[in-house]
Amino acid sequence: MRRSILSFLSGAALIVAALAVGPAAAEGHHEKKPEVHAWSFAGFFGSYDKSQLRRGFKVYKEVCSTCHSIKMLAFRNLAQPGGPQFSEKEVADLAASYKVKDGPNESGEYYDRPARPSDRFPPPFANEQAARAAMSGAYPPDMSVLVKARGYGRGFPTFLLDALPGLSYQEHGADYVASLLKGYTEPPHGVTVPDGQFYNAYMSGNRIGMPPPLSDGAVTYDDGAPQTVDQYSKDVTAFLMWVAEPHLEARKHIGQGVLAFLIVFALLLYFTKRKIWSNVAH
Ligand code: HEC
Repeated sequence: MRRSILSFLSGAALIVAALAVGPAAAEGHHEKKPEVHAWSFAGFFGSYDKSQLRRGFKVYKEVCSTCHSIKMLAFRNLAQPGGPQFSEKEVADLAASYKVKDGPNESGEYYDRPARPSDRFPPPFANEQAARAAMSGAYPPDMSVLVKARGYGRGFPTFLLDALPGLSYQEHGADYVASLLKGYTEPPHGVTVPDGQFYNAYMSGNRIGMPPPLSDGAVTYDDGAPQTVDQYSKDVTAFLMWVAEPHLEARKHIGQGVLAFLIVFALLLYFTKRKIWSNVAH
């Protein structure tokens, strides 16, 4: 009996030790936890900052869109309420500066024409293979839902809060993308990065096939916001968050309306109950 308990315990100890050492030994690297940002769209009353979305769009247009598509985004979306809210004229001019494929025409041919507000953003590459061929094998993912598709575990104790509806923190993906954009550094001593790859503190495995896309001063802002990698990263991430969740504000407004209704309803019930029972002796 005692021997079987002993062997059980030592077996369990071995498993625990293997679990503790295993991943670290197998991977030999560790990505940093994304920095937590103060997003305007976080929380129960959160909403997008229109100027930030406009700046973020500029960063996307001038930098990211040379490699990343946003297939779900049509030009006219940029004029919708809750978004960057460009004017109809601005959107029409912007669309006209892009070419899209259309056809077939009467002679059965496909042709290029200037885009219209109802068109979607033309992708930078014809297909995934063309993108990989241009990017030494790596594929720049489409950005339609990218911010919502990335996340990370916040660990104890915050993950307990994250499980509660209403209190949960939903900006993991945004924190990750913004941190990733700022996370390029020299590799630590003794770490080698293969050609065509770059060291990034936040990328899983610390190696990424995307060259550092941002540098201070690369995009000109006309609203006086700082032209720094830090600011660009936050702005473009906010824009991509809007792209992935354009109806966030409407959703939060419904929640606020429901809560306000419940409060009023509870008060009415309370006073009705008082009135009904007021003549009844205790
Ligand atoms: C020169 C082309 C290029 C440009 C410009 C570029 N990217 Fe990328 N991006 C890539 C490639 C290639 C990958 C895939 C990397 C990999 O899988 O290792 C990628 C991956 C990513 C990822 C996903 C990382 C992950 O967790 O898998 C994010 C987020 C991203 N890019 C954001 C951006 C943003 C934001 C911009 C604009 C500021 C931008 N990229 C500009 C080529 C580019």
